[in-house]
Amino acid sequence: MEVAVVGTGYVGLTTAVSFALHGHRVTGVDVDAAKINRLKQKICPIYEPGLEEALARAIDSGALRFAASLKEGARDADVLFICVGTPEAADGSADLSYLFAAVDDIRALQADVPKQRTVVIKSTVPVGTADRVAALLAACGGIHVASNPEFLREGSALQDALSPSRIVIGADADEAFAVLKRLYEGVKAPRVFTTRADAELIKYASNAFLATKISFMNELARLCAVLGTDVQTVARGMGLDSRIGPEFLQAGLGFGGSCFPKDTIALLQLAKQHGVSLSILEKVRDLNATQPDWFIARLRDRLGTLHGKRIAVLGLAFKPNTDDIREAPSLKVLNVLLREGAAVSAYDPVASPAVARLFPQVTYASDPYAALQAADAAVLVTEWKQCVDLDWQQVKAVMNAPVLFDGRNAWPADALSKAGFVYVGVGRS
Ligand code: UDX
Repeated sequence: MEVAVVGTGYVGLTTAVSFALHGHRVTGVDVDAAKINRLKQKICPIYEPGLEEALARAIDSGALRFAASLKEGARDADVLFICVGTPEAADGSADLSYLFAAVDDIRALQADVPKQRTVVIKSTVPVGTADRVAALLAACGGIHVASNPEFLREGSALQDALSPSRIVIGADADEAFAVLKRLYEGVKAPRVFTTRADAELIKYASNAFLATKISFMNELARLCAVLGTDVQTVARGMGLDSRIGPEFLQAGLGFGGSCFPKDTIALLQLAKQHGVSLSILEKVRDLNATQPDWFIARLRDRLGTLHGKRIAVLGLAFKPNTDDIREAPSLKVLNVLLREGAAVSAYDPVASPAVARLFPQVTYASDPYAALQAADAAVLVTEWKQCVDLDWQQVKAVMNAPVLFDGRNAWPADALSKAGFVYVGVGRS
């Protein structure tokens, strides 16, 4: 099939590459001409394991190309995926301006080159958006609109796109269902066929539920810290119940990234517009906002004061294997530490330059031991392998005091306590 993918961010680029690897002819389209030029040269604009190699393979095989406009690159497209960003607007709702700009471009393309096409919305959009898009495109004739939300995670984006947990397809016409069935032929995953509105809500509800699991554990960790119980063991015991499941029970410094923070507030806004209050989700966001403060307050208690202390922060990206710092807990941690007068040195394998633009007063080290040099305490913020698998003898030798605050419960607590470190985790000690 001839496929065009509008938007070459995380979702768009990964979608384009994975459809190309599945044997379709794909054109990636973006208004950012400089980005398109780099993509044509097989340069991946984001740090995502395996994506650059797959991009090169897809281009070399002739299955994937890029264009700076729909008119240039998508005249023959049978299917047009909209994968543009839907960032948070000032009031927390989803900003749909990129989406509607893409719809305008599709309308112009269809006026120029009329053809039977299916427009598929992959961007995360509030319930009712695909119906609005369908109404806007109805006058063009020949266009069906479907909703097909994306569930990929940063750090394992390509793998998730190639073997998804499920494929959710919302549409109101047999032809649109048929096109998407053909497109996903050969991809092993359960399918959910439903309305466009249901498909849209499945995406928000999934992210909101996962965020809720995390905040539940983060709140439980606060209780564990008082009771002296171990939240990790509690999580393991809980997760063995198949009704609960083992994933997303990891207490830490809170969720970050481009999806959970943005999608939880957008869902709250959507509900509010319809006169419904999602009170659990409100609380989930409150807990997430205060989790780094809660943890750093424990560090302050341990050190007496943060003023004049040298603190090493290990990991800055919102999670390992990405250079993304959007809504990263590290930003909150740095804010508190600097506000309270600590001297901060930080290490991250890839995200330091992005954080340095926001926090020039922090010293950025090129390896974890340099960051730990003469530190009065270390805080693990992102569980990169490089920040977890440390030579503890060397850590002890370079630090001023052996105080380890494990914001991800990823360091070996027992071994470290035995080795003479002061170890404090999130709901475990
Ligand atoms: C998420 C969803 O998983 C994905 O399905 C959706 O399409 C986009 O949003 P992503 O934001 O890439 O993906 O990362 P994810 O691995 O889900 O982690 C989100 C945040 O939750 C991270 O900050 C992570 O550190 C945190 N997290 C995750 C926890 O604090 N505890 C956990 O147990 C799991």
